[in-house]
Amino acid sequence: MDPTRRYPSVWYLEQAARRRVPRFCWEYLTGGAGRGGAVQRNRTMLDAVRFVPRLLDDAADRPKLSVDLMGRRYDAPFGIAPIGLGGLVWPHAAEYLAASARRQNIPFIMSSYATVAMERIAEIAPEHAWFQLYAFNRPEMDAAIVARAERAGFEVLVVTVDLPTATRRPHDARNGLAVPPGMDLENLAQMVVRPRWAVAMLRAGVPRFHTLLPHVPAGMSMADLGTHLASLHEGHMTLEHLKALRDAWPRKLVVKGLYHAADVADCRALGADAVVMSNHGGRHVEGAPSAIEMLEAARAEVGSMALIADGGIRSGLDVARFAARGADFVLCGRAFMFGVAAMGERGGDRVAEILKGELHQAMAHAGAPALADLTGALHTEGD
Ligand SMILES: Cc1cc2nc3c(=O)[nH]c(=O)nc-3n(C[C@H](O)[C@H](O)[C@H](O)COP(=O)(O)O)c2cc1C
Repeated sequence: MDPTRRYPSVWYLEQAARRRVPRFCWEYLTGGAGRGGAVQRNRTMLDAVRFVPRLLDDAADRPKLSVDLMGRRYDAPFGIAPIGLGGLVWPHAAEYLAASARRQNIPFIMSSYATVAMERIAEIAPEHAWFQLYAFNRPEMDAAIVARAERAGFEVLVVTVDLPTATRRPHDARNGLAVPPGMDLENLAQMVVRPRWAVAMLRAGVPRFHTLLPHVPAGMSMADLGTHLASLHEGHMTLEHLKALRDAWPRKLVVKGLYHAADVADCRALGADAVVMSNHGGRHVEGAPSAIEMLEAARAEVGSMALIADGGIRSGLDVARFAARGADFVLCGRAFMFGVAAMGERGGDRVAEILKGELHQAMAHAGAPALADLTGALHTEGD
């Protein structure tokens, strides 16, 4: 069946993806901290944002989706969020998504924990790939990785600051999640019932953390590697540390994972080009607010930086909701992974097409020729 007909929305891709990946990967992708309260909250807060259609005004212009962001023009106000271990959910996910980003003229952010070399991603999408760094408590490791990203040609460095300590997601702990995946009986049984995933994984070879492996002792066991990497992130990202990264990186710098308006002001003061308000898809702090709740306060502090946000986006309407609340740009994580897990190589393109179409429709109904006009049609529960 033609994919446009088979997958008319992200929801259909999600259902197909669930049937194609082993349960331990599915739980890794979709799960959150604790019992998933923040994952649910991201949806609840988005669903509460409503638009009152405006039909008889003069907004006859066709909605314009393209936006300028940090000196580049993109075809839509959304990009692909960094997803660590993407290659475990579906082999070559990062490569496929980078290629989709280039074709769709949207950014793709490669995670520090991607299972592909950064040079390969820079080659696939030289103008659309950004690199995401989880800073380390070893300055020499940061310096080496940042220098490598600069050599590879990335234009944008995204520093994710929301990992002051290793995250414990109960389902991942129970599943013994590891890279490469552990071969205990329980995991093997889950792989056997997902033959397309198993064959694709066998063809792709063992997934590895290509950015980080040069920095860990050779021959370390999987269990020790996890503990070792977690210990290298332990500790808060300080302003001093962030300033050092700003000084080391001569191109565009984005700080990801902020909640508080005071942190936004600090980023502006040290010369960041953009911030990402994000609760990390609800994966770190179960009691955390959603980004959409924090946008108004952030907007007041953002100055000339771009205000980016993410969390829970599954449709173009959701993109419109974030824009109406003040975001200049948004990121989508799981939605794009559902696309790749369902369709493989072209799944990212299908997600981008769906989001673009739905956003266009939401803007047309709201009588908004440009994103900035969406605020006029906004109605939130309780208003
Ligand atoms: C499986 C998974 C892995 C992630 N890995 C990273 C990562 O390596 N670096 C990072 O900055 N954010 C990471 N995130 C957070 C996403 O970049 C993004 O903030 C979040 O997924 C947005 O929510 P959404 O998935 O509901 O769109 C990850 C999210 C998921 C779901």
